[in-house]
Formats: sequence, C-alpha cells, structure tokens
Amino acid sequence: MGFDRFVLEQLPRTPSRVLEIGCGPGQLALAVAASGHDVTAIDPVAPEGPIFERATLEEFSAPAPFDAVVASRSLHHIPDLDSALAKIAQLAPVLIVEEFAWDRFDERTAAWYLAHRDGQSVSTEQCLRDWEQEHTGLHGYDTLRSAFDRRFGERFFAWGPYLYRYPEVHGSRESEQAQIDAGEITALAFRYVGATLSD
Ligand SMILES: C[S@@+](CC[C@H](N)C(=O)[O-])C[C@H]1O[C@@H](n2cnc3c(N)ncnc32)[C@H](O)[C@@H]1O
Repeated sequence: MGFDRFVLEQLPRTPSRVLEIGCGPGQLALAVAASGHDVTAIDPVAPEGPIFERATLEEFSAPAPFDAVVASRSLHHIPDLDSALAKIAQLAPVLIVEEFAWDRFDERTAAWYLAHRDGQSVSTEQCLRDWEQEHTGLHGYDTLRSAFDRRFGERFFAWGPYLYRYPEVHGSRESEQAQIDAGEITALAFRYVGATLSD
C-alpha cells in the first residue's frame, strides 16, 4: 500500500486537520487534501500553493492544534530530534511516519542493490563505504525510535522496502518486499504510528 493510502486509513475522521512536516514537492499533502482533509504542509523548499508553507518545523508556528502530524522521510534530517518530537507532541496527538533506516544497510542488502542498479560497477565493500559516507550525520533507526518512544506510544509499526525508490534501481517495491520476507535482504524503511503519552 502506498504511504498516501496508509495515512488516509490512519486519520481519525474526515476532515482531519493534518500537518505534514518536510513535504518536499508536496505529492502526499496534495493527495491527502484531495481526499477531503484540511492539510498544512511545511518544508523550507515547499512548492507554491494554499496548503504549503516554506518553513522548517523549528520555525513553524501553528494557528491551532492538528489532529495528526505526518512525516515522510524528513525526521531523520532534523538535527535536534528530541526538541522536534517535543514540538510535534504539542502540535497533535497522533504521529504518522514513514522513515528511512539507512544504518541497517548491510552486506547482503548492498549486494542486492548493486545487482539491481544501473551504473558503475563497484565492490560490495566500496558500496558500503560510499553508503556510510553519503548518510553520515543523518539519524539512524535507534535514534529515531528512541525519540518517538519518549513522546509517543506505538499504535502501528512495520518494516518495508526502500531501495526501489531510487531511479537507478530496477527492482519493484514488490520484488524488494519479497526478498525482505524471504530474509535475503534487510528492510530499510519503516512505518510508525504513535499516540501521545499521557503524563
Ligand atoms: C528526503 S526529503 C523527503 C521529501 C518528501 N517528504 C518525500 O517523502 O518525498 C526530506 C525533506 O525534509 C525537509 N526537511 C529537512 N529538515 C527539515 C526541517 N527541519 N523542517 C521541515 N522540513 C525539513 C527537506 O527540505 C526535504 O524536502
């Protein structure tokens, strides 16, 4: 299931007031808004449009609380993750996330990636070194998960495929998922839904 459909299934009612953090080009925000929800989508590089605002989470000031915060692959970029989660918990009682656990990329997953991508041939060892260098400084799974767990209680969690998203990869979401299910490679994406912890 695409993340847009997943988000729609998790929203408490229609219309829900939804804040998307780190919306990028805005496809998810537009899809959720087209399904009848009241969406605000923020990102320093947000597109023009009535539902979009060019702001970081740190800068954003909400006129009223939301029913849910949605974030797709943006939270691992935010330097002060704990403050970000504290702010999110103030903004809405529900957090719906799709994230990138880049630090789970291992030798078998690198070998699958190399076998399914166009481009220069490199060794698995070199691929692992390049990967580490490209992603250093981004939060990995344990850091994301502990930041979520400090403010939210888990309502849903699932691992899923990630590499199929890269334009250089010629493998489908389904084929990557099948390899994960068979235990041949490691899942690099996860979906999480949390509800704020009461004091
Ligand atoms: C990998 S992109 C994901 C874009 C889109 N959500 C998607 O899934 O395709 C990460 C996005 O997070 C945004 N971002 C990074 N730090 C942010 C912050 N502090 N507040 C809001 N957005 C941020 C970036 O500008 C970028 O558009």
